[in-house]
Amino acid sequence: MDPNNFSSMSNLQLCESSSSTDLPSLDSGCPDFSIEEEEQNEIDEARDKENGQAEDQGLCMNSTGIRKVLTVDMVNEGIKVMTYAVRGPLLLRANQIEKELKEGAEMPFKTVIKANIGDAHAMGNKPVTFIRQVMAIVTCPSLLQSDHFPSDVKARAEEILGGCRGGSVGAYSDSPGIEIIRRHVADYITKRDGGVPSDWRNIMLSAGASDAIRNVLKLMTNPGIVCQKKPGVMIPIPQYPLYSATLAEYGMEQVGYYLDEARGWSLSTAELERSIRASKKRCTVRAIVVINPGNPTGQVLNRQNIESIIKFAHKEKLFLLADEVYQHNVYAPQSQFHSFKKVMMEMGDLSVHWS
Ligand SMILES: Cc1ncc(COP(=O)(O)O)c(C=O)c1O
Repeated sequence: MDPNNFSSMSNLQLCESSSSTDLPSLDSGCPDFSIEEEEQNEIDEARDKENGQAEDQGLCMNSTGIRKVLTVDMVNEGIKVMTYAVRGPLLLRANQIEKELKEGAEMPFKTVIKANIGDAHAMGNKPVTFIRQVMAIVTCPSLLQSDHFPSDVKARAEEILGGCRGGSVGAYSDSPGIEIIRRHVADYITKRDGGVPSDWRNIMLSAGASDAIRNVLKLMTNPGIVCQKKPGVMIPIPQYPLYSATLAEYGMEQVGYYLDEARGWSLSTAELERSIRASKKRCTVRAIVVINPGNPTGQVLNRQNIESIIKFAHKEKLFLLADEVYQHNVYAPQSQFHSFKKVMMEMGDLSVHWS
């Protein structure tokens, strides 16, 4: 169809109105061209012809002759099968235990910590005033003149503004993010990892962890590559549903490995071996996701465990995706968080030591 022809565009809708009330209808607001009857007949004929072609192409018409260019049948199958429920048997059981505690049941603990979503404020964490004040100033720099903000906040805000083009956070940044913030992130990681260096050029900023995870998984989808098997990704079970949902959306295979509840939701190499062996017929495994500390399970991997996962990924030539969103959520007094990056760097060159 001719997009410059407003008359034919006036019959175009994005979707059937009953199924998609929030999508815009292109037939409102189109200019009202008065045209002669003969001209109108020509347009109608052309439209009938187009409609016939459209139906041949799988586009649908409703009873008013309005063409639907997007229907449920046409939607990406991956989107239709994906689910993103941040609940499952573990959360249901936690809710049940919480209710029983309220009703006075005797248990070896008094409260339940829900580790299934990192909803820090809902868990009682107080927002960090420093971060909020810096955000306030960088978005409204005239607040630098205010007496209500401490000097360390002002210094940080000025440093960030100085790193933005035109001195404004509204300016376009480099694709991986604002350099000064990437440098701050790298400094944080270096300190967190006890001095193991982090290069700011390897840091890419994203709008939350989900975006970053989805972008990385997208690198391993196979469109256009002729290959017999789907790409697969190993994920823990239980898991954070972002992974199962994204794999479904991208048409990738989910290869689950089970955490052992009886051993504090630990992860064994024997289970990783079993899982990858079981998947070999249906997909080519490209990556392994490790969530540490676990979601929704809350366990923290010990150093030895991390080393054996790294060796496994190395042996199987897998991309290792360590989701450490929960690095500060360590509840058991005897547990300690170790980043995969730090452990891997300290292990040295695996091809020399472990092959
Ligand atoms: C383990 C884990 N990974 C990823 C995410 C997603 O993080 P974000 O909300 O920053 O996208 C969450 C959020 O709770 C999470 O718990």
